[in-house]
Amino acid sequence: HRHLLGIETLRPEEITTLLDLADRYAALNRQPDKHADALTGLTQINMFFENSTRTQASFEIAGKRLGADVMNMAMQASSLKKGETLIDTALTLNAMHPDLLIVRHPHSGAVDLLAQKVNCAVLNAGDGRHEHPTQALLDALTIRRAKGRLHRLSIAICGDIAHSRVARSNIMLLGKMENRIRLIGPPTLLPSGIAEFGVEVFDNMAEGLRDVDVVMMLRLQKERMDGGFIPSEREYYHRFGLDAEKLSHAKPDAIVMHPGPMNRGVEIDGTLADDINRSVIQDQVEMGVAVRMAAMDLLAQNLKLTRAEPA
Ligand code: CP
Repeated sequence: HRHLLGIETLRPEEITTLLDLADRYAALNRQPDKHADALTGLTQINMFFENSTRTQASFEIAGKRLGADVMNMAMQASSLKKGETLIDTALTLNAMHPDLLIVRHPHSGAVDLLAQKVNCAVLNAGDGRHEHPTQALLDALTIRRAKGRLHRLSIAICGDIAHSRVARSNIMLLGKMENRIRLIGPPTLLPSGIAEFGVEVFDNMAEGLRDVDVVMMLRLQKERMDGGFIPSEREYYHRFGLDAEKLSHAKPDAIVMHPGPMNRGVEIDGTLADDINRSVIQDQVEMGVAVRMAAMDLLAQNLKLTRAEPA
């Protein structure tokens, strides 16, 4: 692949190859000297048109650990504010010969469009409700390390699924790896056409969580609700917020995940989120750096091969 735009186009064996490399980078990241040279001489530009803590920081750290020259575009201070379009912005940066562009954008499909206009590798850091591929890959690595496998697991994805690119990418990835997926949430927060995903759907946490191995919570994304369904946070927490009682319906060794940023007391109880015997939320953040190192390493290898080919 020239780009990493989504999980949709990845084959199971490609996912496994990337996770195997990420596992090796996870080991490196625990060493005193965390440097490798997979991106030495390459230029990485991070373009975040939407807020981020985890994804932006981990892509920057990942690039620096692999030796890239990393530049963070301050999009709020860019000429977008003067009316320059997304494509013109991308073409301008493309003329400076970057090798890797990391792009987050509020509109679904914007990153794909941008990738068609530039001649470097593009990595989707989250586009609208569409995909967040590196999040799904870091979730997969976290699950594989905690459970010892990434197949034939029963996995519940809970909450605001309709607005979640994290859920969409995870449903595709976990489905490709032959897991059993349950979606739990209020019917108003489930996407339309859910049947085609090959998942089971529940609107009750106790039923949906029964005997699952993995409980993946999602943030209630009020900023994407367009003034439509905005439940009261108290009512939402009562019915769909994960606490110890609801978790007791899952397997005794079920792990608790959340991509962050989390709203404590809205979709998850704060004490449970901090319970290192159940919660792997900080492991997800740690694996984020390793997965992004692996993704950029593999794309850079392809880039070098492509550029080495005679015209
Ligand atoms: N999980 C995630 O994408 O977090 P950020 O929005 O902080 O990057």
